[in-house]
Amino acid sequence: MGKCCKCNRRLLCMCLLPCMMTGHLLVYVMVSIFVTISYTPPKINVHYIAPGISSNSSALASHPLGPFWNLRLEDSALWNQLQHAWDRQHNPILRGNTTGVTGKPRVKLLSEIEEECLSDCMSHKCSVPRMDDINSLPEQMRAFIRSMHCREYPLLINQPDICKRNNISFGLEGPMLLMAIKSQVGNFENRQAIRETWGRSGLVKGESNKKGLLVYTVFLLGRQDSSTGPHPDLKNLLDLENQKYGDILQWDFRDTFFNLTLKDLLFWNWLEEYCPTAIFVFKGDDDVFVRTGALLDYLHKQWEEHNLWKAYTNETSMNLFVGDVINNAMPNREPSTKYYIPERFYKGVYPSYAGGGGVVYTVSLALRLKEMSEKVRLFPIDDVYLGMCLHRLGISPSHHPGFLTFDLPATHRNNPCSYSSVLLVHRRTPKQMLTLWKQIQNLSQC
Ligand SMILES: *[C@@H]1O[C@H](CO)[C@@H](O)[C@H](O)[C@H]1NC(C)=O
Ligand SMILES: *[C@@H]1O[C@H](CO)[C@@H](O)[C@H](O)[C@H]1NC(C)=O
Ligand SMILES: *[C@@H]1O[C@H](CO)[C@@H](O)[C@H](O)[C@H]1NC(C)=O
Ligand SMILES: *[C@@H]1O[C@H](CO)[C@@H](O)[C@H](O)[C@H]1NC(C)=O
Ligand SMILES: *[C@@H]1O[C@H](CO)[C@@H](O)[C@H](O)[C@H]1NC(C)=O
Ligand SMILES: *[C@@H]1O[C@H](CO)[C@@H](O)[C@H](O)[C@H]1NC(C)=O
Repeated sequence: MGKCCKCNRRLLCMCLLPCMMTGHLLVYVMVSIFVTISYTPPKINVHYIAPGISSNSSALASHPLGPFWNLRLEDSALWNQLQHAWDRQHNPILRGNTTGVTGKPRVKLLSEIEEECLSDCMSHKCSVPRMDDINSLPEQMRAFIRSMHCREYPLLINQPDICKRNNISFGLEGPMLLMAIKSQVGNFENRQAIRETWGRSGLVKGESNKKGLLVYTVFLLGRQDSSTGPHPDLKNLLDLENQKYGDILQWDFRDTFFNLTLKDLLFWNWLEEYCPTAIFVFKGDDDVFVRTGALLDYLHKQWEEHNLWKAYTNETSMNLFVGDVINNAMPNREPSTKYYIPERFYKGVYPSYAGGGGVVYTVSLALRLKEMSEKVRLFPIDDVYLGMCLHRLGISPSHHPGFLTFDLPATHRNNPCSYSSVLLVHRRTPKQMLTLWKQIQNLSQC
């Protein structure tokens, strides 16, 4: 009897075990299917809105939440359309085939127009490829569209030797930091305050690292005189200033907000030709305040780490890009603001970009950005354009909490000690720059 019981039990086991295992498997499969079906991708509800917009969210237009770089053609937005044509032209697989995805001949036409334009940059015959009722757009948008195919303007004032200066006395090959500051012809006072404070050219000591590092400052200007609008003609004054300081770079284009991207492109060209031996570039506005010493300490540390790392890998170029990084921003759709980008011009979310008050990046990266910019259509907002080029290089801008493009909290602004963790702060008048510069010499007592 005992024997039979044992045998029954074994039989039972042999029958039940596979059943139980199949059951488990079934449950697992069902749960997996259920989870997969019920999954919805996370929704990003809070979008940072590029500055200048009112708080009225009903004014915000709809926008896709998908990836910024999209192979689908946004048929109704001019920039996306133009960029799409370039993407296809520069795509090694599709090269030579300029027919659009939909087979419509439209994209092909654009690239034909383009060739005419390149040979005849400022002619109006190649303006505005097929944009309906362009006249309903604000004037600055229209001006941008009319000239967005043009990115080469001659230098009016150059400093061909600035990076060769003093090379013998310091025994250095190039400056550690080249400060390129976007200014306008009339802002003499800002430039002078910068020269006397944080933008001093020459050997500059770090705050902790007392070894001096070579810093040069240049100011990036376009044209603002009677031929570009109601501007007083300050040409003679500018010439005088340049004779005295030799730090002005001026190009022959209208210096307007939507033309600021040109300053980046033309500066990169200049950099490649006249100062490729510099290591870092600071690019910023003439109404920011920079703690240059602290910035130099930070950069020197990054540079040493890179050199240490370089010994182990063969990574020769350093791709640092730091600033106040803004993610997931969407275009400003408020027609009355200076940042307004109509939906008919650009659709989509902006790539991550660093707020334009001031950013720092390596010269080797600047040269790569220059190359990439030849494949990216001009965009009217310069910080966003930089973000677009970075994105295509596969590089994310790094956020540094010391870059305060939206200033310190109002209650902390007058306390010098609150600047001890600041690298850059926006915005300061020339007078404030001078005061602050004196105050921060004493930061070690905080
Ligand atoms: C926001 O939009 C609503 C509806 O469009 C309008 O009634 C309201 O006045 C707007 N508010 C502001 C601050 O513009
Ligand atoms: C270009 O692409 C279209 C469709 O996408 C195709 O029909 C055509 O044959 C291609 N032309 C060449 C030269 O590859
Ligand atoms: C230093 O400058 C002189 C001209 O001023 C140039 O010939 C020389 O190559 C420079 N040296 C270095 C190391 O850059
Ligand atoms: C940019 O500069 C060019 C050349 O001076 C000018 O034709 C164009 O209108 C300017 N664009 C804007 C948006 O002001
Ligand atoms: C770095 O490059 C050198 C010469 O090109 C080569 O001999 C060496 O093996 C490389 N090292 C690494 C870690 O790739
Ligand atoms: C810096 O500190 C010294 C010594 O405490 C003081 O005499 C001087 O006034 C301070 N300077 C400023 C600009 O605060």
